[in-house]
Amino acid sequence: MQKSNETLANGVKTVVVPAAGMGTRFLPATKTVPKELLPVVDTPGIELIAEEASQLGAERLAVITAPDKGEVMRHFGAFDELCETLAARGKDEQVQKVARASQLITAVSVTQDKPLGLGHAVGLAEAVLDDDEDVVAVMLPDDLVLPGDVMAKMAQVRQELGGSVLCAFEVSPEEVFNYGVFDIEEIPTDSSLPSSAVKRVRGMVEKPDPADAPSTLVAAGRYLLDREIFEALRRIKPGKGGELQLTDAIELMIQEGHPVHIVVHSGKRHDLGNPAGYIPANLDFGLRHPQYGPAIYKAAKQILADFEAESHNTAISE
Ligand code: G1P
Repeated sequence: MQKSNETLANGVKTVVVPAAGMGTRFLPATKTVPKELLPVVDTPGIELIAEEASQLGAERLAVITAPDKGEVMRHFGAFDELCETLAARGKDEQVQKVARASQLITAVSVTQDKPLGLGHAVGLAEAVLDDDEDVVAVMLPDDLVLPGDVMAKMAQVRQELGGSVLCAFEVSPEEVFNYGVFDIEEIPTDSSLPSSAVKRVRGMVEKPDPADAPSTLVAAGRYLLDREIFEALRRIKPGKGGELQLTDAIELMIQEGHPVHIVVHSGKRHDLGNPAGYIPANLDFGLRHPQYGPAIYKAAKQILADFEAESHNTAISE
């Protein structure tokens, strides 16, 4: 049974997950395997997002996919035959693993025919929202933000201050050109969150040159947006990279007086969008895995020691 908005713990019914990208940084793997299905230890990134959305209390995952990325949705299917075979062999733990994705949340797909940008992708999700949904959550599956309660904190800020709330994290000045960057001002807050963690956003700019960046606080792939974002998305023009940018629609709303705040994330973040972030994420999760952790720890230490000895020898022989 569908819940009405009031009964949802954080007011969020639908989480939008843009997953239509080509995954060029993971070629050749992504010739046949969508980036969102690459595993962190044994679980695809998209299932980790589904888990976070379910933990927030959402009931629907609106997955924006490209026409040739049907496997992403298949991951949320039932797999009855596989479950029966595993059950007949007494592999109950594996049955749970197979069934988990479909039990976490109801996934629905929205097809983005052309890669016109993140803003365009998010805009397509309007078609699957119910009329009573006045807030839309967006989670970018490239970003793992841990622990998984950051959206709940953002929902609390939205409840206290209204408007839209985004998650931010601090990067070095050389890294800002990869992100949406915030122009912020401090605010007094009675929120139960520490005041240093909540700031008002005066403006937002997508992937600026470091010299033009208004701060080093950047968007971390978690958004709690007022429904009027769809109206703003219809009014923006192509921006950075010739694409329709979500950042530009948020900036438009700010300039027209819509309140936007950030919650500065103090936990961990992994970037699953490229191998240099994906491999550390696997190491981090792998080290903590109850079954594989000890072996991974031993192997990782050995690999590092060998690597350092090699580099040392090379440095001496040069
Ligand atoms: C997107 C957003 C950017 C945000 C980033 C977070 O960029 O456009 O504003 O900071 O995600 O990962 P992308 O990494 O998809 O280029």
